[in-house]
Amino acid sequence: MAILALETSCDETSAALVSGGVVLANVVATQIKMHAEYGGVVPELATREHLRNLLPVAREALQRAGLAVSQVQAVAATQGPGLPSALLVGLKAAQACAFVLDRPFLGVHHHEAHLYSPWVSGQPPRADFGALQPNVSLIVSGGHTMLVLVSGELQHRVLGGTLDDAAGECFDKVAKLLSLPYPGGPVLDKLAQKGNPRAFDFPRPMLHDTSEDFSFSGLKTSVRYYLRDHPELLVDDERLCDLCASVQAAIVDVLVGKTVKAALRHRVRCVTASGGVTCNRELRRRLDEQCRLHGLVLRLAEPAFCTDNAGMVGVLAERKLLAGCPFTGLDEEFKPSWPLG
Ligand code: KG4
Ligand code: ZN
Repeated sequence: MAILALETSCDETSAALVSGGVVLANVVATQIKMHAEYGGVVPELATREHLRNLLPVAREALQRAGLAVSQVQAVAATQGPGLPSALLVGLKAAQACAFVLDRPFLGVHHHEAHLYSPWVSGQPPRADFGALQPNVSLIVSGGHTMLVLVSGELQHRVLGGTLDDAAGECFDKVAKLLSLPYPGGPVLDKLAQKGNPRAFDFPRPMLHDTSEDFSFSGLKTSVRYYLRDHPELLVDDERLCDLCASVQAAIVDVLVGKTVKAALRHRVRCVTASGGVTCNRELRRRLDEQCRLHGLVLRLAEPAFCTDNAGMVGVLAERKLLAGCPFTGLDEEFKPSWPLG
């Protein structure tokens, strides 16, 4: 079975072909440069870019996979959550494709797809569902920060999520306060390499809280107040790197501390992580260090599968179809705020 999968929930236009757990092609057209001019994702522009890019991206995916569209046996797309008009483009295109080809269609939950991306690795990328074991999964990006207990294939329960800003949003907003370019996460990550993480003592919100929720807006506000009182820091390169390292340390402490604590509390032996912020070097290093310390197995999504991509959508869709999950109607609508049930 070859599945054509589309993903357009935010600012990446992506198409993938998946067969037997192997990602035959995973093409991603990112819009980061366009949105950088505005300091964040502009939904209307994202939608227009998806419209412009979707067909070329899908054609390229088919070409790379060496498949003709007639060889596609099922079609899948992200149905939600995400930006409404952006979701609309990928979902309706996929449904139209399924209709024309007379193939089954499956709408996929974006976060559920993230849960399985850490299990995709190698060249060509292959989903190793045989190795899947109960795990606590951290999904951390510009739009979401959540902990999910995955007790088996297609079985999960949300443990907690952010009450305000996502961790990636915190990276991006702090970078904006420092007049760094968008998206701020990768820039902050780079500057932090040269800084001292103990130079400033920023709060670690909810780190010792018994809930499995997160909150990052207070951290951003404390950076804002610090900069208001110390504007000279903005023109001191060395102190700027120290500040980046200290903010990053605060975010990473919270993410790692709460993830490991959740794994121990729910008695799983494995931790997984995906989403754009999982590209952060310090987060990867600290998760590795802490998981080793507590005897936990760590599976981090590979960078290409951390950020939004259709490969993870296709991988999940295939497992769901093989498990006999019902098809999604061709007239079903997108779900911008779809809780991960
Ligand atoms: O998953 P993603 O590509 O898109 C969604 O938000 O859905 O994640 C983008 C987020 C941005 O907030 C970006 O700043 C952050 O991931 N990010 C990073 C790094 N690379 C991307 N944050 C910290 N360190 C990085 N290296
Ligand atoms: Zn995502």
